Amino acid sequence: MPVLVNINGELFPPEEARVSVFDRGFLFGDGVYETVRTYFGRPFLLDRHLARLGRSASRLWMPIPGGLDGLEREILRSLAAAGNVDSCLRIMVTRGARPGFVNLDAETAGDGLVVIIVRPFEAFDPACYENGVDVALVGVTRMGKRSLDPKIKSGNYLNNIIALHEARRQGAFECLMPNQEGCVTEGSTSNVFLVKKGVLRTPSLDCGLLDGITRSFIFEIAAEAGYRVEEDKILPADVFGADEVFLTSSLKEVMPVRSVSGQKVGDGRPGAVTQDLLRRYREGVHRLVGPGA
Ligand SMILES: Cc1ncc(COP(=O)(O)O)c(C=O)c1O
Repeated sequence: MPVLVNINGELFPPEEARVSVFDRGFLFGDGVYETVRTYFGRPFLLDRHLARLGRSASRLWMPIPGGLDGLEREILRSLAAAGNVDSCLRIMVTRGARPGFVNLDAETAGDGLVVIIVRPFEAFDPACYENGVDVALVGVTRMGKRSLDPKIKSGNYLNNIIALHEARRQGAFECLMPNQEGCVTEGSTSNVFLVKKGVLRTPSLDCGLLDGITRSFIFEIAAEAGYRVEEDKILPADVFGADEVFLTSSLKEVMPVRSVSGQKVGDGRPGAVTQDLLRRYREGVHRLVGPGA
């Protein structure tokens, strides 16, 4: 069964998967989530995703029913039941429902809800990697660390939705959001890296962004390969002046950017460092979850 939904431990086909209209995830976006993909049928860096889910939930004082170990067991059981060659997982925990109640106060919540959606993995168009994608620096700012800290991967993605919409209206694939100070933070569902004179630069977490699992994996493989990586304040001018720009996420891996707000990056072709890191990323995948790993 290609699409399968696990709701609080019960498996459902997609058309029968239902949750309460009083669920706080539905009412308020009062939940946390992770997106994970599998390679060779095995979830990649699942331990790191679960750890981040735990951090997001604890920042919101949200219990995870059954705990992270129970969640991991349900994820593996759902993947096995779906039987896809490769899957994309959306793992969600909400503060749950109290039927009849619509009340912001977290104390009034019922038991939490755990939903795992397993879908067949659909690869991006190979042209995204061969040619690079277009991104747009948008006017919508990334929420500040002192409001809903972007390090919390919450179910409330309206900030990112409106920023992506602005980018899509300009014909771009992904947005880059500034923070209140005008420094670049991240995309709607991606972190961003620049390459300048062979050195990798990426916005520091202080700027207000998600601590991407792929972002930190890139730190590791870049260090192994001898690249210097700087976490820093990045201004739009730095992006426009970069030799290479690329996006990272669990689904995009390392995706080259060919233009920013209509301005060509470098010579407009995926750069050598970006291509090297994509190759090393995929080697890392083989090493960790490939056949015989
Ligand atoms: C806002 C945001 N930034 C960055 C990322 C990339 O994170 P990861 O590498 O953990 O997939 C995501 C992924 O969904 C995201 O939503």
